[in-house]
Amino acid sequence: MTPTGSLQDALLELEELQARALHAFTSAASPDDVEAARIEYLGLKQGRLKAAQERLKSLPSDGKKEYGRQFNGVKQALEAAFDAARGRVERKKVADDAVDVTLPGIAPRLGRRHPLTQTAEELIDIFGRLGFAVARGPEVEDVHHNFDALNIPPVHPARDPLDNFYLSEGSMLRSQTSTIQIRVMESQPPPVRVVAIGRVYRPDTVDATHSFMFHQIEGLMVDDGVTMGDLKSILRLFAKSYLGEDVQIRFRPSFFPFTEPSVEVDMLWHGGRRWVEMGGAGMVDPNVFKAVGYDPERVTGFAFGLGIERLCMRRHGIDDIRLLYQNDVRFLDQF
Ligand code: DAH
Repeated sequence: MTPTGSLQDALLELEELQARALHAFTSAASPDDVEAARIEYLGLKQGRLKAAQERLKSLPSDGKKEYGRQFNGVKQALEAAFDAARGRVERKKVADDAVDVTLPGIAPRLGRRHPLTQTAEELIDIFGRLGFAVARGPEVEDVHHNFDALNIPPVHPARDPLDNFYLSEGSMLRSQTSTIQIRVMESQPPPVRVVAIGRVYRPDTVDATHSFMFHQIEGLMVDDGVTMGDLKSILRLFAKSYLGEDVQIRFRPSFFPFTEPSVEVDMLWHGGRRWVEMGGAGMVDPNVFKAVGYDPERVTGFAFGLGIERLCMRRHGIDDIRLLYQNDVRFLDQF
């Protein structure tokens, strides 16, 4: 700070102070900038304006009046510049934070579950209400669970290497979810009331109704005195929940090594004219009980296996199984 100087110098410095201060306020871009400028120029203790006021004392008395008048002008100009700068940055902040509620929103694109997943979840839900728990088993299986324990003889067409994906010695991709029946019975004593859903693999040529991988739902109920009548009523209750109250159900005699007697399950609904085959079922063969250590003299049971793709396709009128695996969003969006 200049010590005692001439009035002329003091007035020049006052002018310079005003120019710098006005520049600081007008160029301040944020509330912090404005505050920094306020402290530097208008601060009550160390501010430059305060220093300029102190200067008055050191001026000769005939210059005090002139300097005082100039000083008051500068002070007013700085205070006005400060007010203007503060107003300006606050308005800017409000504008930056504002949301234009008149703009159209960005609609979120919701994903959805695959129709097969939806079908599987619905089946688990229906059978859950009928008292069936959910069981699981591995997709890479051993021949014991896929064939031997299911009473499928060592020489049987179902074991043909052309009809199965064999891996290393004794292991394979499971060709049916019936494997899970064995795993459940091996791991717990009767009674049993489970469904299992999963992928199965067979080297079929892909066309509108075949795929080398598809899904099955397997059901198993074992207890003291379970009958074919129980099988039929459970499947009818299931079909009514899944397809509609007007569903009809029919058993056709068939053969599976793991059930005796065995049936093919057909369904007819909504007044349709063609019976649709949904899968196989039957009373658990005593040899299967023996393989898992159950006493066939004390318990009986039924089992069934239905194709998930078929259930899903019949329900939604899908006529090509390949649509279920192509993940074309135009198709999937419809479910
Ligand atoms: N596992 C048979 C298949 O894949 C379907 C089947 C038939 C399952 C009868 C069963 C059953 O549980 O009792 O063709």
